[in-house]
Amino acid sequence: MTGLSECYNFADFERAARRRLPRPLFDYIAGGADDEATLRANIDAFNRYILSPRYAVGVGEIDLSAHVLGCDLKWPMLLAPTGMNRMFHPDGELAVAQEASRHGIGFTLSTMATSSIEDIAAAVSGPKIFQLYLMADEAMNFETIARCKTSGYNAICVTIDTIAAGNRERDLRSGLTVPPKLQTSSLVSFLSRPGWCLRYLSGGSFSLPNVAAGESGDISTLATFFARKMEKNITWDKIGKLAAHWNGPFAIKGIQCAEDALKAAEAGATAVIVSNHGGRQLDGADATINLVADIVDRVGGKVEVIADGGFRRGSHIVKAMAMGATACMTGRPYLFGLGAFGRPGVARVLDLLHEEVGRTMNLIGCRSIADLDRSFIKRADIWPEFLKDTGSVNQSDEPDPKRIKIISDGLTQP
Ligand code: FNR
Repeated sequence: MTGLSECYNFADFERAARRRLPRPLFDYIAGGADDEATLRANIDAFNRYILSPRYAVGVGEIDLSAHVLGCDLKWPMLLAPTGMNRMFHPDGELAVAQEASRHGIGFTLSTMATSSIEDIAAAVSGPKIFQLYLMADEAMNFETIARCKTSGYNAICVTIDTIAAGNRERDLRSGLTVPPKLQTSSLVSFLSRPGWCLRYLSGGSFSLPNVAAGESGDISTLATFFARKMEKNITWDKIGKLAAHWNGPFAIKGIQCAEDALKAAEAGATAVIVSNHGGRQLDGADATINLVADIVDRVGGKVEVIADGGFRRGSHIVKAMAMGATACMTGRPYLFGLGAFGRPGVARVLDLLHEEVGRTMNLIGCRSIADLDRSFIKRADIWPEFLKDTGSVNQSDEPDPKRIKIISDGLTQP
């Protein structure tokens, strides 16, 4: 079985998590909606953009710092809100938040977290954002915002893409319940992961303290309570009221077009999070990275633009920043680290990503995140300029392997 020190990249952590987590939990993290086309696209689309390095520029010390939602980050990353982390490992959100802080990046606590707003605030000194799922009862939303204010959170992030539950067929098939309960359909998958079972049983009681403060007991009742209470009629007007009430850095998560980004700015948002919920909601939506540049251009600095989804390599982060993103957000990478190894897994995922960002910046010859611009990227499907005017090359043609061979041998064009 792959040990922590043998994990070098996302695929290694995913494999390790698959081997250590009961199948329904692995699938809950890994899966997406419907045919999972958007989930795959989020990752694959990074290959449409090619890095264009400059050499001999005397890079020296590289400055990866970024500033977003009023927070200073050592490198441009925020950990995405993800629910129920203690279901994957008892170290849970607390370890994730503390590791984010130790790595100089931001942490976003989900409404569906298994740690409370107050517990995270007490244990974490770094940048903290609270992700709010809107409840139909306005008073509840204001009450949650008040808890965040009292606890000293830096920003609020409202997720707007969950007005209906995404169709996640892996979860339907596995019969996943929250909290996990042994059922005949999933018995074998749970019993085949005795390490997880022991950790889970010794990990203390399971609750969602940000959904219903003070309520405890059977969480399936709480989950039903959450489904019943969730706002299904989200409007810009309602979002605007919350932004005004918070009166501080405010992000809207789930934006997929420039028109909505501009409406978010009008509603009082400081930042938009360009996101398709990691392909877990609307399948068939575009990959996040394909949307970033257009949104950055059209909002013209009125809001910060955070890119979320599909980041698996430091080079992906550099590409998004070169397009003009203010920061990036990631979910599954740290969840697989947590599920497979607990806190040390999260730490290693962040170490590797941080190293990769620094190495990529060095290799493209860019001294600071602030110096990144679109001259460092090209579209992968564009023919080099010198081939365009040969007359025989159609932009939409597949590259002719013979032609490529001759050119790479340093000969003139045929
Ligand atoms: C999520 N996501 C999410 N988003 C949110 O706003 N509130 C939440 O509670 C959750 N919960 C959640 C659980 C799990 C298991 C996953 C994988 C994702 C979406 C998350 O914030 C983020 O948008 C995606 O994870 C980004 O895609 P990548 O980085 O996982 O590819």
